[in-house]
Amino acid sequence: MARDGAVYACQSCGAVQTKWQGQCPGCGAWNTLVEELTSRPPGALAPGKTARGRGLAFEGLTDATPAPPRIVTGVDEFDRVCGGGVVPGSAILLGGDPGVGKSTLLLQVAAHAALRGAACAYISGEEAVEQVRSRAQRMGLAEAPVRLAAETSLREILEGLKRDAFDLVVIDSIQTLWSDAHEAGPGSVTQVRAAAGELVRLAKKRGVAVILVGHVTKEGTIAGPRVIEHMVDAVLAFEGERGYPFRILRGAKNRFGATDEIGVFEMGDAGLAEVKNPSALFLNTSGERAAGAAVFAGIEGSRPVLVEFQALVAPSAYGTPRRAVVGWDSGRLAMVLAVLEARCGLSLGDRDVYLNVAGGLRIAEPAADLAAAAALASSAFDEALPQDCVVFGEISLSGEVRAVSRMDARLKEAAKLGFRRALAPAEAEGGAGMSAIGANRLADAVRRVSDGIWD
Ligand code: TYD
Ligand code: MG
Repeated sequence: MARDGAVYACQSCGAVQTKWQGQCPGCGAWNTLVEELTSRPPGALAPGKTARGRGLAFEGLTDATPAPPRIVTGVDEFDRVCGGGVVPGSAILLGGDPGVGKSTLLLQVAAHAALRGAACAYISGEEAVEQVRSRAQRMGLAEAPVRLAAETSLREILEGLKRDAFDLVVIDSIQTLWSDAHEAGPGSVTQVRAAAGELVRLAKKRGVAVILVGHVTKEGTIAGPRVIEHMVDAVLAFEGERGYPFRILRGAKNRFGATDEIGVFEMGDAGLAEVKNPSALFLNTSGERAAGAAVFAGIEGSRPVLVEFQALVAPSAYGTPRRAVVGWDSGRLAMVLAVLEARCGLSLGDRDVYLNVAGGLRIAEPAADLAAAAALASSAFDEALPQDCVVFGEISLSGEVRAVSRMDARLKEAAKLGFRRALAPAEAEGGAGMSAIGANRLADAVRRVSDGIWD
């Protein structure tokens, strides 16, 4: 029997049940339901607050008060992903794997904002003040007037934030906070929701920008931060492949800006360095381009980014050939392989296929289809693409190469980095030192790769 007021929340999907069960009916996960006490049944209003409101007051779309200026933190890569600085009174969730560098990034953001005159607080629930201080010292930011505190009690934090006026507050992390109004442990769905709710309310009421850190695993299996995504104004993801120093900040949701913008950083001894020109970073510019490599001229957010696609097509040692992809969509690879076979007569069905996007970047653009296909064909025929050639274009199931967005910007960036040729949709126009090798059909592009015709 459930105790009075007890509910069972799935730690994987956040669904709430009134009875304990072995399997969550919401997401099908096993042993994820955990008892959480609520003071009243979910959804009910507090007694006494139900009666006699004054009713809604409606307003027009045009006569709003002008928005206050954004807080420009001075960490440009961060500001750009936020949509040009942090909006006062907004709540931002920064998610990412443990150890990816969330604390480092936000300490840097708070310190730079403070140096520019914003009143900033950094509240750590995970590290002692001493630890945060020594990190700031290592990053050369010890002089920044950031107000530090180590605290996990939500009540103490809220009281502290009400006492002083702040522009920007970092809470590291939302999973360590606990509210004495709930009996569930820190990190549970109930606690995370309650803490986020209170902090978002504080942000709106006092015009403070609040940045919450949330640990998420790659698969997003820790429910905590996911259940508050709808409460906050922006959700940013901080990503990085293990073994690479590059870190990418991505907007997953943003009520005040575009979500396709990325910020690129490099983790070093003195914290995160901003990477203003990502193309130079992701490209292997030294040495000959090997067979199986194709440079994709992509667009990430508002910026063109050049990145190398690497493919390896090898005889399969087992009955079932392997397909492994890093940094690209495996479904998209399957499609490109099918089109190569059906429209170009290039059958790779009995071979192992590996595809890798260099540098740890994740590419989601359909414009990368042709780069992947060129890399695959290059490896299959053991013919390297010219050193000075970039590739872009979307492939349709019928084997056509389609035009993509902002082709001029892609060509311009490639020219800037010393490329002279582009294997691209027929609509792309050369110029500025770039010659566009138009391909209407994938078969034409594959023939160029196999025969080495690039004029
Ligand atoms: P951290 O910001 O603590 O990660 P998170 O808050 O996301 O868990 O950063 C963790 C890693 O970053 C740690 O393994 C050490 C590394 N690091 C550096 O390489 N250089 C630095 O200057 C700092 C501060 C951290
Ligand atoms: Mg941390």
